[in-house]
Amino acid sequence: MRRYLAVAVGLKAFSSCGPMRRAYRALGNQRGGRERACGRMPDYYLERVKEMLQLARTYGMAKDGGRVLELGTGWLHWEAVTMRLFFDVEAVLFDVWDNRQLLGMKNYLQQLRARLPEVKDVVSPSQLARAYDQIDVALGVAGFEELYRRFGFQYVIDGSGSLDQFPAESFDLVVSRGVLEHVGRDIASSLVENSVRILRPGGWALHSINIEDHLANYDSTVHRKFYLEFPEWLWKIIGQNEVQYINRLQRAEWVNIFLLSGLELADERGAKVDLNGLKLAARYRQMDREDLQHTFVRLLLKKQEAKALAKPQ
Ligand SMILES: C[S@@+](CC[C@H](N)C(=O)[O-])C[C@H]1O[C@@H](n2cnc3c(N)ncnc32)[C@H](O)[C@@H]1O
Repeated sequence: MRRYLAVAVGLKAFSSCGPMRRAYRALGNQRGGRERACGRMPDYYLERVKEMLQLARTYGMAKDGGRVLELGTGWLHWEAVTMRLFFDVEAVLFDVWDNRQLLGMKNYLQQLRARLPEVKDVVSPSQLARAYDQIDVALGVAGFEELYRRFGFQYVIDGSGSLDQFPAESFDLVVSRGVLEHVGRDIASSLVENSVRILRPGGWALHSINIEDHLANYDSTVHRKFYLEFPEWLWKIIGQNEVQYINRLQRAEWVNIFLLSGLELADERGAKVDLNGLKLAARYRQMDREDLQHTFVRLLLKKQEAKALAKPQ
């Protein structure tokens, strides 16, 4: 708990001043960059690829000729790049700031190459052969611009986070991982509505949302849903900060936002923890306890097909 509070206060101090915030981000990015460039690829990077391939096989949400928007593409463009290994998709890689790491991406792709036999049950032999070829293309590029040219990708940074620049019904899939928990709670609904606007009828949304208390990652003595104890005013003072903002939206709230935006839930996976011992703040006492147990949720949602035009009488 002491560590949790120390980190919370430290992040608050960094986030309160622009130059310190930028310095913190630059340092964090540098350190993470070194780890990704030289370290072992965490197993969940392979799991993400396997899950995408399984969902593609079951639902067809990733397919040749598809156009994909990766929201909050981050350091490695992992969702779009790994999809492009197996499917001939075009992608727009969208973020609010540039935190790309070419060496990290290459290091993880190199390790993914060695583990490709682990996905052979969910892809065809020709897709597997294509993945080896495409990884070799990615490993050989001199920079991100060459990668985008070879893969048919476009990298877009817009600090406002607005998707207004993209035409309606211009994508087949919007995908994000570890992003939606970081968008402002007040803009979550409008961001989702805008992401649905740019989807073609029958298009898909695939979002993985990490809804655990991110500060608990720094202190193993603290419950992974500890933030549920904080009323909003206290969270604003202690937990909320600009450098690692999380919106504390819960699974049911996300599902509600997606359904109200016109999507239908097709597939879901989650992880939960027991809430025993937590004293929930009033906002969370009103919510379904089982739903609050979620630390992670992955949702696959579908935009309705265009309704057939009614025949004139
Ligand atoms: C935890 S990182 C995850 C990066 C990447 N998706 C991954 O899994 O490696 C969160 C990312 O979301 C981006 N982000 C935060 N708010 C955003 C917004 N409103 N729109 C798009 N991206 C956003 C951040 O800049 C950051 O790159």
